[in-house]
Amino acid sequence: MKTIVPLTLRLNGADRIALLAHFLALDPEDRRLRFGAAVADEVIGQYVERLDLGRDGLFAVRDDDDGLAAVVHVAIGDSTGELGLSVLPAHRGHGHAVALLGEATRTFQAAGCSSALCDTGETNRPMVAALRRAGYREHSRWQRKVA
Ligand SMILES: CC(C)(COP(=O)(O)OP(=O)(O)OC[C@H]1O[C@@H](n2cnc3c(N)ncnc32)[C@H](O)[C@@H]1OP(=O)(O)O)[C@@H](O)C(=O)NCCC(=O)NCCS
Repeated sequence: MKTIVPLTLRLNGADRIALLAHFLALDPEDRRLRFGAAVADEVIGQYVERLDLGRDGLFAVRDDDDGLAAVVHVAIGDSTGELGLSVLPAHRGHGHAVALLGEATRTFQAAGCSSALCDTGETNRPMVAALRRAGYREHSRWQRKVA
């Protein structure tokens, strides 16, 4: 069987409006899974405004209309990186999450992080499957050695 690997790209300041549209398209349950709470539109707006696209990595898979089907936010700490990921419902099940986890891991490695973290619950089965496939293992939180 032929596997199509999604094309990923790094976002910059010009993509802030598309990023906002992506996050606002998440329903309350997806917002809870992505942000830890079913955050209101205004909170998402402030989050997108505050994102430092020079320091942190934001990678995406575009949809056919130039919107963002999937986005990963890669935050670099002193020795640890942390990621948050979302794929819009119409685009799920095509390997976007796994592809973006690969981008996140490479970014953590390039930044010299020794491990990478992702907060997700055991009940989030698609995320757990994607994390496993990308080499993450659960300790107290989902993490992966990257150095
Ligand atoms: C979790 C999420 C990112 C997965 O996105 P996706 O693009 O559908 O993921 P992929 O296509 O890369 O597939 C990931 C894995 O999940 C599996 N999967 C999909 N749906 C599943 C389900 N209902 N139950 C169990 N596994 C499932 C896939 O088979 C795949 O595993 P495999 O590669 O071993 O076959 C997406 O559902 C999402 O955005 N959810 C809301 C936000 C969220 O939960 N973020 C995570 C916390 S930061």
